Parts: sequence; structure tokens; C-alpha cells
Amino acid sequence: MKQLNIKDLVFSYDREVNAVDGISLSVNQGDYVTIIGHNGSGKSTVAKLIIGLLEAQSGWISIDGTALTPENVYEIRNKIAIVFQNPDNQFIGSTVRDDIAFGLENRMMEPELMDAVINEFSARVGMESFLDHEPTKLSGGQKQRVAIAGALAMNPEILVLDEATSMLDPKGRKEVNDLVHELHTKNAMTILSITHDIEEVTMSDYVVVMNEGKIYMQGTPQDILQRTQELIDLQLDIPFSIKFYEALKRQGLDVNTPYDIEGMVAELCQ
Ligand SMILES: Nc1ncnc2c1ncn2[C@@H]1O[C@H](COP(=O)(O)OP(=O)(O)O)[C@@H](O)[C@H]1O
Ligand SMILES: [Mg+2]
Repeated sequence: MKQLNIKDLVFSYDREVNAVDGISLSVNQGDYVTIIGHNGSGKSTVAKLIIGLLEAQSGWISIDGTALTPENVYEIRNKIAIVFQNPDNQFIGSTVRDDIAFGLENRMMEPELMDAVINEFSARVGMESFLDHEPTKLSGGQKQRVAIAGALAMNPEILVLDEATSMLDPKGRKEVNDLVHELHTKNAMTILSITHDIEEVTMSDYVVVMNEGKIYMQGTPQDILQRTQELIDLQLDIPFSIKFYEALKRQGLDVNTPYDIEGMVAELCQ
């Protein structure tokens, strides 16, 4: 049984244009799925539908075989943690410690365990010395680190990341990616990550490319790379494709692309 099933999902904010326009997707437990696509293609809307913040106009979502309804949304949310695109919308606690604790209290964690978990995860994201700070006064990157620590501390079955590392520098992003990967592997945590980070895409099991509310293509990172011209046509621009190719090569993957990538690089560097 698939852990997450999405079938013919449709959602419109204005009842005129569909922000999500008939999406179907199945995710196995323990998969690491990345979702890419240009701005406005409906990625964040899909994430909000999965956690029941928005209700689909048609189609359905099921998690572990249970269809998501307004009645069971809180129960299903116990299995899922999300890190939003803008961390400012996410903080509830008046300190970093309270904020991480809030999620754990919601999951009924024993108070004796809580301190250890908060200390561990704040340290894993390098924020252990900020536990008594006000989240709203942190920098964007620090806020993202705290939001990720809070989500990971809950040890969810499914972790949804919506451009969760966009404000980190490449080094910080790599540290957080490595941590997410470690927990994904160790705990078979399913990851659904909306990202512009090519390194992360190449390390995922499966890539979904969205365009105008629809899934435009999907496949393994290698499959998607073979379709360079389509990525270019989607305005995921030439540098994106080249970076993708270079990143796959760095991973030591055998990539045969029918396109003249070296030629494209030469052209760009002119
Ligand atoms: N709260 C909202 N109200 C109205 N329209 C919205 C809202 N949020 C997103 N949209 C529109 O829905 C479409 C999909 O947006 P979104 O899911 O945020 O895309 P992405 O995350 O891929 O950038 C866009 O056209 C966007 O303008
Ligand atoms: Mg978005």
C-alpha cells in the first residue's frame, strides 16, 4: 500500500483558475520525493492540501489508506510535519525552546523526554545557543533552522518541506540536507521536498516537475535530466539544467544526455 496517495486533485483560490489542476501522485513509505517547478506552478498549494490547510474542490488525498477529510485532519496531521516557505508564519512560541516544545506537546511527548529532544535537535541545526531567544528576532536562515529542528524533533512519518532551506547559504543548506537525509535513512521518514536546490534534487529518489498546476513530468533524477530541453522550455532555465547535470556527475552517476551540455556551457560563457 502506498503511504500517500493523491488522486485527481483540483483546487482553485478564485474558482476560476485552478492553482492545482488534476494532480495524481503516489508515494511509498520511506521515499524521498522532490518537487520542482517555477514560481506559481502550484507546489505550495499541493503542500497545503496534503496537510489539510486547504480543502480540495475535487479529488482526494489518502494517508496510510485513510482519506483525508475535515473530520480526521487533526488525527492525520499527527503523522505529518511541515516546514513552510516563509518561517515567519510558523512560529507560535515566544522563545525558540517554547516553539519546539509546542509541537512536541501536541504530540503528547512525555515532559521528561522533551528537554533532551529539544537540546538534541537545536544542536543538530546549530541553534543550541539560541534556545532562549525570540524566534521573530532571528535572521531568515536561523528561523529556517529552528523550523526544521521543530519539525524533525516530532519524528513525523512524513516530512513536507516547502523551500525550507531557501534562506541558508550553501554550507548551511548542505548541513541541513545532510541531517534530513540521515533521519530519512535511519527512521525511514518519507520526505516530500519542494526545492530549488539542485544538489537535493539529485539526491532524491524521485522528482516531480510541476507546471501550471499540473504534473508536467516525473521520474528518477536521471530520467528527468534526459529531458533537458523540456526543463529549458519550462523556464527552469539553462543554468538549472547544467547545474543539474554537473551535480549528477559529482554524485558519480553515469549520465548520458542526448543534449550537447558542454556546447551549452560554452555558449553561456561567451
Ligand atoms: N492565498 C492565495 N490566494 C489567491 N491565489 C493564490 C494564493 N496562494 C497562491 N495563489 C496562486 O495560486 C497559484 C499557485 O501558487 P503556489 O501554490 O504558491 O505556487 P508555487 O508554490 O509553485 O510558487 C499562483 O498562481 C498563485 O498566484
Ligand atoms: Mg511556493
